[in-house]
Amino acid sequence: MGSHDLTPSRSKSVVITGASSGLGKAAAIHLSELGYRVFAGVRTESSAAELSGLATSRGELIPMLLDVTDSPSIARARKLVEQRCSDTGLWAVVNNAGIAISSPLECVPIGVLRAQLETNVVGTVAVSQQFLPLLRATGGRIINISSGVANVVPPYLGAYAAAQFAKEGLSDALRRELRPLGVSVSVLQPGAVFTPLWGKMRLSGDEILATAPAEIVATYRERFIESLNTSSGLAQASATTTADYARAVATALAAKHPKARYRVGVDSWGSALARRAVPDRLMDALIAVGPKAVMKAFPHPGSRQPTSTWKRVIGHDRQQTGDKCPSVGEEACPQGWSRGCSQPLEPRARPVRSFPASGR
Ligand SMILES: NC(=O)c1ccc[n+]([C@@H]2O[C@H](COP(=O)([O-])OP(=O)(O)OC[C@H]3O[C@@H](n4cnc5c(N)ncnc54)[C@H](OP(=O)(O)O)[C@@H]3O)[C@@H](O)[C@H]2O)c1
Repeated sequence: MGSHDLTPSRSKSVVITGASSGLGKAAAIHLSELGYRVFAGVRTESSAAELSGLATSRGELIPMLLDVTDSPSIARARKLVEQRCSDTGLWAVVNNAGIAISSPLECVPIGVLRAQLETNVVGTVAVSQQFLPLLRATGGRIINISSGVANVVPPYLGAYAAAQFAKEGLSDALRRELRPLGVSVSVLQPGAVFTPLWGKMRLSGDEILATAPAEIVATYRERFIESLNTSSGLAQASATTTADYARAVATALAAKHPKARYRVGVDSWGSALARRAVPDRLMDALIAVGPKAVMKAFPHPGSRQPTSTWKRVIGHDRQQTGDKCPSVGEEACPQGWSRGCSQPLEPRARPVRSFPASGR
């Protein structure tokens, strides 16, 4: 496969954080199927048990308790990896764990903003610090998962975007610091992929609006809900899958000369291009008219008549999925796309965390 054969020698070991669901889980399974020994970071025993049941025949899938905001938990994970990899060493760390808060910035409780940065940014550094001695020994690599949001920031994703920009910045610094030491650092920027993240994001938004002062909430509510519905609808319609993401991680892990950045999905490439080509004020104006125009072009996945624009731009024929509304599992969204579907996207999605009444 050119400069990089995706099939690793059986002995290559990888740590991936946030492997209980969505992108991380898909990547952990895929990598183990390729033959890697995968240490899959999860936060609960039940997630660990679920992953154990998915063990593949080629490589190894080893669930490991790892909360990236908890130093003792990271230290225990490192100890486990060190013991289990005493023969081969550790090849790579994929910093995938993350949460996504959506809220008008004026409403976001400060404790929630801290949790966003603590998980996606500080967690990435804390995990990297712990595992770097092992990676230095093998001349291994770090892959930090960022997002297309680090190119163009939609409104109401300021907290999440701050985390992704920070992750991009620290990845650039780390790449340059570790280059002379033989450890490579890459960023992987997925565009929107429909995972449980979107349901959690909606729940966090609902919870924040429910606890913020009513007069401030009233200022934003309608536009915020509309924006949330639009981005959720686009994620549901996205042609990019968890499998695309998993393959991209595998490519970055196997590349002989890893790139500084990998992009997954047309929206990730598009946002990178737009960031370079579109002046800020023009982008503001486009985003301001965006939601309604986008909704017109891309009706809710529950609608029965996909437009030709939908098929052309997204490259995904909704008929293949039976025209079902993934948010409610019914033929059509009972609330209507134009008014927006307020159903959680994932019936089983849990809130990111309980928000304290104080600390805003
Ligand atoms: N989906 C997208 O459209 C998209 C696009 C661009 C970038 N991304 C990025 O891709 C990554 C994965 O997202 P996803 O869509 O797969 O979301 P997801 O399904 O919600 O998965 C997030 C994972 O992170 C874990 N996690 C959360 N807080 C953690 C902590 N403190 N310590 C350790 N693990 C923690 C979760 O564990 P629990 O199950 O225990 O909560 C879960 O395994 C995130 O970094 C996200 O920013 C996603």
